[in-house]
Amino acid sequence: MSSRVKVVVTGAAGQIAYSLIPRLVDGRTFGDKIVDLYLVEIPQVVNKLEGLVMELEDSFFPNMGDVKYTDNFEEASHGADWFLLVGSIPRGIVYEGKKIEERSDLLKINGGIFVNQGEAIGKYGKDNAKILVVGNPANTNALIGKNAAGKESQLWMAMTMLDSSRAKSVISKKTGVEINKVKNMIIWGNHSPTMYPDVENVLIDGKPGSEIINDMNWVTESFLPTVQQRGKAVIDSRGASSATSAAKAALDTIIACENPTEDGDSFSAAIASDGAYGVPEGLMCGYPLMTLQDGTIEIKRDLTLSEFAKEKFKISIDELESEREAVKNLLK
Ligand code: NAD
Ligand code: LMR
Repeated sequence: MSSRVKVVVTGAAGQIAYSLIPRLVDGRTFGDKIVDLYLVEIPQVVNKLEGLVMELEDSFFPNMGDVKYTDNFEEASHGADWFLLVGSIPRGIVYEGKKIEERSDLLKINGGIFVNQGEAIGKYGKDNAKILVVGNPANTNALIGKNAAGKESQLWMAMTMLDSSRAKSVISKKTGVEINKVKNMIIWGNHSPTMYPDVENVLIDGKPGSEIINDMNWVTESFLPTVQQRGKAVIDSRGASSATSAAKAALDTIIACENPTEDGDSFSAAIASDGAYGVPEGLMCGYPLMTLQDGTIEIKRDLTLSEFAKEKFKISIDELESEREAVKNLLK
């Protein structure tokens, strides 16, 4: 295994990136590996990255390798192992005179970014590169990027780890079980208010949620809406979307991909469906994933979904299909 890893981060002058980038080189996320960073921004703000690089240099990170920045994504992408595609416009801001509140607005504005970035990743990224799309609408942006890259050996993911961490927190509070004993917290479907956080297959101190949580009223009236609407609740309060929690979730996704998954556990991310759990092929769908001992990442396939769960999951699958339809002009 290589002792160096090259990581490209887009949106590097943004809110999430400010919390994310230092922790990529702190010796925890990639262990002992030396981390080379290539930070990418749009031309209007790329110069701000000079200040961020100064701060990184001033922070005494023994594992930090080369740090470069650019507004040219292609240049950054050569030989990269990981791509963290954060750069895009968040909800809650005013863009060209209009407050961006709906995912459909984001789809129009952000979708195009991922065609060019996907092409460059397919051409210049490592054959086994991993790509984590954070920028919203994450699943469909990842679909666009993966399609443009056209390289099956690369693994494209959209981030649902934040939703999984949110759901763990709510379950921990409800049951009084420590958060690190809440495992196999699956987010099925889209990173959007239609997602289905699986309250039945979750393991709470080793026992399935279906045995521990016998309060369907709480599930439908409190648990699901709280997790599904948490992004909006943070935006409404902060006037900006979740940043430090999103950064932590991106780091946790990397750690989950770089290390074998414990027996019984899984981690959440959206990857391209191969038909697993009846999801139409190609949709970037939130699944329970496992990293095997040899580093392969696979969908955990042995779970049972109740009729309730199937019904909720279908709502999210339908939304993913309609998003795919809406961006079909961006798909080759
Ligand atoms: P931000 O506005 O603070 O930063 C985004 C940065 O991206 C800006 O600096 C912008 O200049 C840059 N950017 C835009 N287009 C770019 C491009 N083509 N190439 C490189 N950089 C580009 O926003 P943020 O708070 O950091 O959020 C970033 C994205 O992450 C948003 O779309 C937000 O909705 C999303 N998000 C996703 C999750 C999740 O769980 N998947 C959670 C929180 C936020
Ligand atoms: C979140 O989940 O916090 C982000 O995706 C922001 C949003 O727009 O909901």
